[in-house]
Amino acid sequence: MKTQELHGLTTEIDELRDEAIARLDALDSSARATDWEREFVGPKGKVTALLRRLGALPAEQRPAAGRAAQAFRNELESAFRPVQERLHREDLARRLSDDALDITLPGRQPLVGTVHPVSEMIDELIEIFALLGFRAVFGPEVETGRYNFDLLNIPADHPARDVWDTIIIDDPEAELVLRTHTSPMQARTMERSKPPIRVIVPGKAFRFEAQDASHEWQFTQLEGLAVDTRITMTDLKGVLQELARQLFGPERRIRFRCDFFPFVEPGVEFAVDCAICEGKGCRVCKHTGWLEMGGAGMVHPNVLRGVGYDPDVYTGFAFGLGIERLIMMKHGVDDVRAFAANDIRFLRRFAAGTCVSALNRG
Ligand code: DAH
Repeated sequence: MKTQELHGLTTEIDELRDEAIARLDALDSSARATDWEREFVGPKGKVTALLRRLGALPAEQRPAAGRAAQAFRNELESAFRPVQERLHREDLARRLSDDALDITLPGRQPLVGTVHPVSEMIDELIEIFALLGFRAVFGPEVETGRYNFDLLNIPADHPARDVWDTIIIDDPEAELVLRTHTSPMQARTMERSKPPIRVIVPGKAFRFEAQDASHEWQFTQLEGLAVDTRITMTDLKGVLQELARQLFGPERRIRFRCDFFPFVEPGVEFAVDCAICEGKGCRVCKHTGWLEMGGAGMVHPNVLRGVGYDPDVYTGFAFGLGIERLIMMKHGVDDVRAFAANDIRFLRRFAAGTCVSALNRG
């Protein structure tokens, strides 16, 4: 009777094995695999139920029966694991292909901002002048007539005051203007410091102007000022020569020609020989061989006197140039309006750096 029971158990195990393996082979999804696991080897499964019944066997048979049942359980579990893993992988693959997600498609490029070409040129100029001992200072864009005109030797009745079509703010009596140039910072700097002075002033300037390819009502200038006891025109020429070389290459030469600006005497306009044709004449330099960079000269004694400097003790030079124009010369841009038009395709052509070249690939 007892031997029969043990025999019965073995038969039962064999039957259960056949059933479990057959069902295991037929599994087709990981959800079904979980059902199978619950039904056969789970805590409420058939194998566990079988193990529980071992307690009813006579003590001497229990160890052998227990081993047999435990071995059976292990056998089912190790048969189950690879099937479960395979079904899981298959499920995953099916889900991926159902979603039809093409992971090789390039993502959408975010629109990354870049440094504006004018800002980039200002940075470059600040670096060049730092090497020559010049410090960058910044002034107000809304100026008084006193700084924009009077202290620059442009008195109220002077015809030169008409040279700039000034944008006047509010009250004409108070003469608050959008500065027509960066030169007002000459007087402001001299008033608040003592020689030796070496500054550059990058910043916006404004003029009431009809716009065309070479005129904008708002543009950017770079002013320069050096004042000391023995500054001469040679110093001015040396500094501007170095600027031209740093910007346009070591072969560049500069040219001074007489010009008039009320705040300098003598005054000059300065030009650099065209780097494209080496001065021979081409479309860019309009067949002159020279590109005009700006105005300059020796600080007028009246300007020095105006801020309380003795012109017999101090001399100085000043210069001013248009930053957009400089970029146009350097990169062959033919319309100044492009800088403020906010066309990202134009602006991106100047931008350096990795994030931008990534954008250009798109
Ligand atoms: N302020 C002048 C302008 O806007 C440019 C200029 C000319 C500045 C000669 C200077 C200078 O400092 O010496 O046209």
